Amino acid sequence: MADFDLIVIGSGPGGYVAAIRAAQLGLKTACVESRETLGGTCLNVGCIPSKAMLHASEYFDAAANGSMAAMGVNVKPELDLEVMHGQRRDAVKSLTGGIEFLFKKNKVSWIKGRAAFTSANSIEVAGQSYTADNFIIATGSSVTPLPGVTVDNDKAIIVDSTGALELPKVPNHMVVIGGGVIGLELGSVWRRLGAKVTVVEYLDQILPGMDGDVRKEANKIFKKQGLVFKLSTKVTGVEVKGKVALLTVEPAAGGASETIEADCVLVSIGRRPNTDGLALDKAGLSVNARGQIEIDHEFRTAAPGIWAVGDVVPGPMLAHKAEDEGIACAENIAGLTGIINHAVIPSVVYTWPEIAGVGLTEEAAKAKGEVKVGKFPMLANSRAKTNHEPDGFVKVIADAATDRVLGVWCIASVAGTMIAQAAQAMEFGATSEDIAYTCHAHPTHSEALKEAAMAVQGKPIHM
Ligand code: FAD
Ligand code: NAI
Repeated sequence: MADFDLIVIGSGPGGYVAAIRAAQLGLKTACVESRETLGGTCLNVGCIPSKAMLHASEYFDAAANGSMAAMGVNVKPELDLEVMHGQRRDAVKSLTGGIEFLFKKNKVSWIKGRAAFTSANSIEVAGQSYTADNFIIATGSSVTPLPGVTVDNDKAIIVDSTGALELPKVPNHMVVIGGGVIGLELGSVWRRLGAKVTVVEYLDQILPGMDGDVRKEANKIFKKQGLVFKLSTKVTGVEVKGKVALLTVEPAAGGASETIEADCVLVSIGRRPNTDGLALDKAGLSVNARGQIEIDHEFRTAAPGIWAVGDVVPGPMLAHKAEDEGIACAENIAGLTGIINHAVIPSVVYTWPEIAGVGLTEEAAKAKGEVKVGKFPMLANSRAKTNHEPDGFVKVIADAATDRVLGVWCIASVAGTMIAQAAQAMEFGATSEDIAYTCHAHPTHSEALKEAAMAVQGKPIHM
């Protein structure tokens, strides 16, 4: 008899959630984690600490940039970076400790150390062998390195996202390599706290994968806030001289190079799946060209009894996607039917304002057929206007023939909260008319979604 019904490798949002659900369903479950605390990238060095810094720096910025003064609140902010870091560490400590509590409560055994397969039904961790009838690989992802650029978080000159969360002082000039989600979130944190921030992006626009209008509008808003963008530009090298980094950049299409001087460089050009050291070959598994483990609709890998979820498999690298896959995978292992609708996975960039989307972009929807689009500016939403938050819009993309909603995109102070409604409507197969005829509380930012849905038929009220 095997030691466990299920061993989950990795305790990020994919792994810990799968382990808890499996245990709830009566499976004898263990979870292997090599970090000192549970919760994976998300809780330790990702979603949670970045949001702690974003939230705190948003307060500082509101006081510093005059938006509080515009409402009659005059304060001159003084930064205590150590306290700001302290509240970040407290959030991480309490949430990672919470997972340990949940493991105990649900009788999930934590096997501490790095797992490597020794066969399709056994692993070794810290010199000890463990067998199981099922394994879930939930080993997540790590920072993609930029060739020729050496990250050293301890020196705080060339850092990755983990280093950028912990900078001991506000840089004078931070250069962010990569205008994606991490670059914009963490670039925003340090810009708000006083750094000059330049974002170097290889493509001709920031936020690849998002709706075209959203990318353009976001660029405009961030520029207004003071971020400097160098688009269609590649970094060809970074040299550190004392406390200064000298970046050589040139047009992506080739041409004359120039040097940019910075005292901090954030490398944020994407993440890659973690499979090194897992000895997948011993389990009869391999990775695809992108380094991911391929799975079927039920999260089964090519090896019987081995399943995989989260950042290590194809799809967006998002915590909620990993979590939902973890739950569905555990349910499948327990003999239930766990399903994920990968067409309806919201994504949110937690900048100011927030940027959120679910479903197809307008470009992708048009490539599939005829669409109708309704757009409503936040400037015309009474709550956003009253709150002095005029930037952004909501956009609803619907199938021209059936009116079924194919995608929703928003830039608004609370877009991350607003998008949940759109995701639920799409999950239920809603038409734009369904959203337009749903009563929305007044005055709320969400009324902009109702109005954008009304605009699909050309009939918004407040525009
Ligand atoms: P992970 O969270 O990466 O966890 C995998 C775990 O497996 C790790 O703890 C690792 O130590 C462990 N592990 C790996 N190999 C082994 C092994 N061989 N043996 C034992 N243990 C092993 N997503 C969002 O949805 N919202 C956000 O706001 C957000 N913000 C982010 C901010 C930053 C700065 C970063 C870097 C990421 C952010 N993400 C966010 C992405 C999110 O963190 C990931 O999508 C999510 O953590 C993936 O979950 P996972 O369970 O697949 O893997
Ligand atoms: P990303 O894929 O979002 O962005 C990377 C950017 O770097 C792209 O715009 C790309 O074109 C650019 N790039 C690549 N190589 C380059 C080069 N050599 N020079 C200049 N630019 C280059 O990756 P990022 O920001 O590192 O984040 C990784 C993942 O983490 C995200 O895809 C997301 O899934 C997850 N994440 C999610 C968050 C959220 O949900 N709010 C927050 C942070 C991360």
